[in-house]
Amino acid sequence: MRGRRALVTGAGQGIGFALARGLGAAGAEVLLNDVDPARLEQAVAALRGEGLVVHGRCFDVTNGADVERSVAEIERGIGPVDIVINNAGIHRRAPLESMPLELWQEVLDVNLTSAFLVTRAVVGGMIRRRAGKIITICSLNCEVSRPTIANYAAAKGGLKMLTRAMAVEWARHNIQVNGLGPGYMRTAMTGTLTIDADFDRFICARTPAGRWGEPRELIGTAVFLASRASDFVNGQILYVDGGLLAAL
Ligand SMILES: NC(=O)c1ccc[n+]([C@@H]2O[C@H](COP(=O)([O-])OP(=O)(O)OC[C@H]3O[C@@H](n4cnc5c(N)ncnc54)[C@H](O)[C@@H]3O)[C@@H](O)[C@H]2O)c1
Repeated sequence: MRGRRALVTGAGQGIGFALARGLGAAGAEVLLNDVDPARLEQAVAALRGEGLVVHGRCFDVTNGADVERSVAEIERGIGPVDIVINNAGIHRRAPLESMPLELWQEVLDVNLTSAFLVTRAVVGGMIRRRAGKIITICSLNCEVSRPTIANYAAAKGGLKMLTRAMAVEWARHNIQVNGLGPGYMRTAMTGTLTIDADFDRFICARTPAGRWGEPRELIGTAVFLASRASDFVNGQILYVDGGLLAAL
């Protein structure tokens, strides 16, 4: 990853933070993004403390103008973005029959539209340089759903097809677009679920590996998808889920 520059959205904590750390440890210069300035500052300080070359840039990935301005400033001030990891995401659970439109829209905006906005802002440079790696952080919910998460499942299902559409559209420019689909991982997003004894039992029984995943277990796949090793891999979703999707 040496000599490569990666932008990771929603990198203030959880999976984004783990992937920023992993790409940094593999030699990349990493730009961490988050909408929460205090969280972002803390994340950047922690990685600098580990000797990694990182920068922080606070912006809301759902705000098109903010995204365009931020990416332009990053590329002017720091340099071209070679790798993008569209990781920012949220969960807002509600029964579908009473789900307010705002809850539907917010989840679609953060989990799906953001990947379009951020990728659109960086891809022009990638096309000009004839090289780029785009990774979308997908989910088991690209394939299967559960009650009360229809907004999230619709967004992640859309993200899977956006990943394929981008791969098809830009492959001729030597740009690879692939998804990384985590299984159930221990992060703040799943915090209330991990401490729910019934749900914990359900996940451990449902996952062939018999346990939750840790964000650091996604690093190997992210480095693969960000490196030259995956130059002929395009439009794929790689699930890192302890075998869950393979089991009935
Ligand atoms: N945790 C899991 O089990 C799991 C499983 C599958 C997929 N995912 C996906 O992985 C990604 C990361 O999830 P996580 O568990 O680390 O979540 P998390 O809540 O721990 O972290 C998400 C980060 O994104 C940031 N963020 C939210 N909205 C943003 C915005 N508008 N602009 C910029 N940053 C924003 C948050 O501030 C936070 O720091 C998400 O896309 C999620 O859907 C998570």
